[in-house]
Amino acid sequence: MTDFHPKNILVTGGCGFIGSNFVHYVVNNHPDVHITVLDALTYAGNLANIAGLPKDRVEFVYGNICDVDLLEQVVPGHDAIVNYAAESHNDNAIADPNPFLHTNVEGTYRLLQEARKHDIRFHHISTDEVYGDLALDDPHKFTEHTPYNPSSPYSSTKAASDMLVRAWHRTYGLRTTISNCSNNYGPYQHVEKFIPRQITNILEGIRPKLYGAGLNVRDWIHTEDHSRAVWTILTKGEYGQTYLIGANGEKNNITVLREILKLMGKDPDDFEHVKDRPGHDRRYAIDATKLRTQLGWEPIHNDFEEGLKQTIDWYTQHQDWWKPVKDAVEQRYAEQGQ
Ligand code: NAD
Ligand code: DAU
Repeated sequence: MTDFHPKNILVTGGCGFIGSNFVHYVVNNHPDVHITVLDALTYAGNLANIAGLPKDRVEFVYGNICDVDLLEQVVPGHDAIVNYAAESHNDNAIADPNPFLHTNVEGTYRLLQEARKHDIRFHHISTDEVYGDLALDDPHKFTEHTPYNPSSPYSSTKAASDMLVRAWHRTYGLRTTISNCSNNYGPYQHVEKFIPRQITNILEGIRPKLYGAGLNVRDWIHTEDHSRAVWTILTKGEYGQTYLIGANGEKNNITVLREILKLMGKDPDDFEHVKDRPGHDRRYAIDATKLRTQLGWEPIHNDFEEGLKQTIDWYTQHQDWWKPVKDAVEQRYAEQGQ
């Protein structure tokens, strides 16, 4: 276990879903830490996600992690980089993998080179999808020893980025850690993703859309538990190590959808089955024993129904946040038969 006390961290992708939740988490829980957010404000980034945070604690820099000249201006002086910036949505990657190669692979490479140049601690945010998928009845879960076996254009670019991080530690001695987390839910998630899409569909009077039979399993974790895990790994994690983050939240999609319908006062069968995702991963499941036993992290949001209820409330109360992009997202899904 290390004992690292960062005071000035650079958070890339800090205007996206999980990155902005991490920025809020650090502002609320670590008053001596200053954050620079570097974000390209793609369709998934929204300055509103960090609006209202104290200016002396959070500085925003607009820009792309592939922009070497910009990195050379922004990175020096920070004691850690936490890399959330990514193209993150599987359906988009299937339609056009190109931006995923740029941001997820080239962007991580550019950041690693910059971190190496200035000897900056580097934490890389990754996904459980790098391990491929599990059979529904497989008694095992993913661990840090599971071989990489990504199955989608998105997850293969995330796997590539993880490999770069590992190589930069081994070859150049960069002080790196990687975390591979399962499916997050909570506030500020883009309405293209499963849970917010269905909540906002119901609020808009649109029937929720379930891919295929809805038997695919995801391992849900509240995004605040993810943030606390990342902080734990950043400050205590051993360099060169990978930590899996998950909260024993396995559920199949049809169960989650029926739960949302029930909590929103609707008939639990009032949804449509739509075209399945090509290559759709069947099941993800995380064994987070290493993180729990070696670094002492525990999730606190263990009641999924309660977390879902709070998330529904958030989307109900923040319609001005999602309404401007909702129609375009649904239009795009409709063109894909989803
Ligand atoms: P998101 O799509 O909501 O946000 C991504 C952010 O990165 C946006 O603010 C976007 O503007 C920014 N960005 C994209 N390309 C950029 C570039 N080239 N330069 C600078 N900024 C850029 O994504 P998310 O769901 O918050 O995911 C964040 C990270 O967490 C990703 O690395 C993703 O792989 C990983 N992850 C996500 C989940 C999940 O359930 N969403 C689970 C595990 C891991
Ligand atoms: O496991 C971690 C990953 O979780 C992250 O790496 C990704 O960035 C994140 O997007 C998420 O990937 P998924 O593909 O699992 O999430 P998504 O929200 O797109 O879909 C969740 C499940 O719901 C999946 O089985 C597909 C299904 N689905 C999705 C949508 C958008 C539907 O049935 N209907 C839908 O409308």
